[in-house]
Amino acid sequence: MDLFSKTKGLGIVNTLRQAGLYPFYRILEGTIGNNVKYHGKNLVMMSSNNYLGLTHDPRVIEASVNALRYWGTGCTGSRALNGNLALHEELEKKIAEFYGAESALVFASGFLANQGAITALAGADDHIFSDEENHACIIEGCQLAEGKIHVYRHGDMKHLEELLQSVPLDSGKLIITDGVFSMTGHMAPYDQIYKLAKQYNARTYIDDAHGLGVVGKGGRGTASHFGLPADIIMGTFSKSLASQGGFIVATPDVIDWLRHKARTFVFSAALAPASTAAALKSLEILTSDPCRVEKSAANAAYLKRGFEQLGLNTLGSPSTIIPVFIGDDSVTLGVCQNLLQLGVFTTPVVYPAVPKGNALIRCSVMPTHTKEDLDIALNAFKRVAPAILAAYQAPNKTALADELNNMGQPLTVQTHQGIQPQA
Ligand SMILES: Cc1ncc(COP(=O)(O)O)c(C=O)c1O
Repeated sequence: MDLFSKTKGLGIVNTLRQAGLYPFYRILEGTIGNNVKYHGKNLVMMSSNNYLGLTHDPRVIEASVNALRYWGTGCTGSRALNGNLALHEELEKKIAEFYGAESALVFASGFLANQGAITALAGADDHIFSDEENHACIIEGCQLAEGKIHVYRHGDMKHLEELLQSVPLDSGKLIITDGVFSMTGHMAPYDQIYKLAKQYNARTYIDDAHGLGVVGKGGRGTASHFGLPADIIMGTFSKSLASQGGFIVATPDVIDWLRHKARTFVFSAALAPASTAAALKSLEILTSDPCRVEKSAANAAYLKRGFEQLGLNTLGSPSTIIPVFIGDDSVTLGVCQNLLQLGVFTTPVVYPAVPKGNALIRCSVMPTHTKEDLDIALNAFKRVAPAILAAYQAPNKTALADELNNMGQPLTVQTHQGIQPQA
């Protein structure tokens, strides 16, 4: 069979496009953070990962432009060879300080940070314990690592403990979890994970891509929220820190190991100067002005209250990511289209990004959202609420999900696939 024959198998995409429901790769014509221009119209952006609203902060832009002028447009090489700038080292020092840690390592993206760190750390004799809903790049890292993977049911500590018990106590173990899960805004039960890690001699690894700048003291993330340490904290600059790139925080030994063994670090060009400087300035602003985190939380509380008054189910999210549960995939896609027409940009989350019948609309707030922005969103949701409430009453129609599933063509996300949680 021709290698490319599989590429004809995205019929569902065309069906959705024809129905005007295709929700991906929407082209933005402009953005100022909490507002975006789409099809010539200004919309309130209600689903960005720009959690601190810093992408258009003049201080961040200026720092980035200055770095561009001083250092040029790219590093043109790996940090190991010719691309290691004083700017990278400064950012690493500041990240470590922010977490009260000794060292950190900056990667060219969060995806590369996870993939590189997991593969470098989990050797053939080691065991990785991974939440089934962890991000695609953790899954990718697990699949590429030589260590044995044990997938535990989402947030299920009993299951995690059973799996920990199934391997020798003296073997190397890594428990890895998202700190804040990006679709629901839910937090991992890190207090219990930490306890199990201590009991079973395991190391803990938190992916705090959505925790940094969102939860914890001054936005210091999940471990800080629980007042507990973590062996490894991974983060990204592509969300709260308004840039690109990722990082790992750990002990100097671990960081030095990664510096020499993480293939995505050694064999990939260093983070571009403009991105490095933008992340550095954003981190400085977060450190000196933690009020932004509080303002986001206040905006989230306002929006959640408004949704709940409309009878909408926000799944008890404790963070500034606010899901509006719908259930049915097609209703969700339709509602998102309606919201666009009503001036609000949101993200639909359908199977396989969430389990079948659990489709939702993902909203998130920024400190830069005004009350007027939030009210525009609430008024729009008021208009679509009848369709959502009707979906709560109707049995879930998962035709779209089934069609996707039959095609074996997940549209947006990677799941643990072959490595399902053990029964
Ligand atoms: C939980 C999580 N981890 C890691 C990443 C990857 O980060 P980056 O965008 O820096 O590659 C993401 C990005 O979506 C994420 O949501």
